[in-house]
Amino acid sequence: MFSLPLRDDARLAPLEIWHAEEFAAHLDRAREHIRPWVGAGFITVDVDGARATLRRYAERQAADGGRLYGIWLDGTLVGGVMFVDFDATSGSCEIGCWLEPDAEGHGLITPACGTLLDWAFTTRSLHRAEWHCRADNERSAAVAKRLGMTLEGVQRESWPYDGTRHGTQLWAILAPEWRAQ
Ligand SMILES: CC(C)(COP(=O)(O)OP(=O)(O)OC[C@H]1O[C@@H](n2cnc3c(N)ncnc32)[C@H](O)[C@@H]1OP(=O)(O)O)[C@@H](O)C(=O)NCCC(=O)NCCS
Repeated sequence: MFSLPLRDDARLAPLEIWHAEEFAAHLDRAREHIRPWVGAGFITVDVDGARATLRRYAERQAADGGRLYGIWLDGTLVGGVMFVDFDATSGSCEIGCWLEPDAEGHGLITPACGTLLDWAFTTRSLHRAEWHCRADNERSAAVAKRLGMTLEGVQRESWPYDGTRHGTQLWAILAPEWRAQ
């Protein structure tokens, strides 16, 4: 319904249940690219699965929890950003993101995440935003670094994937740090 320009050719907007077919078509392009790096529950294979993800986020949003936003480049849904967790009571949230392969390297994700951080820290007065990524996910860690986050530690062998247990990096930024930069 409403969208925010990220650039002339790209916009950020809520990703909702009525996008299920578009989201499923996007996941067909993105699935194998994102599979190693995102939660298994996000990897669905058909429109019903895509709709279930959108419903899960809609229900979280209705409870003032997680939220999901899509990124459209030249009118095509190419990825998105989300509040994986959002807890106004504790003042803390976690941000996540993904792109289909052709949309990588265009500078879309960092400003989209910045929009979420601005809203969380300014409009909602949260204090802390986290970023969790597989320890060998260099592109994801680069986004966290570009956002000004600090690497606070690694949860060892906490990310099982394809028979191997990887570490999970925990990055975070606090409201005063975001406002100062
Ligand atoms: C993580 C992920 C979303 C990062 O995407 P990304 O495109 O690298 O990140 P950004 O949108 O911030 O873009 C930065 C890149 O765009 C380039 N770029 C091009 N035009 C740009 C512009 N106008 N402004 C800024 N950067 C621009 C930058 O140089 C940088 O590329 P480089 O790292 O090769 O130098 C993507 O790699 C991905 O989807 N990976 C798989 C899923 C995943 O890992 N999700 C995160 C789970 S924790």
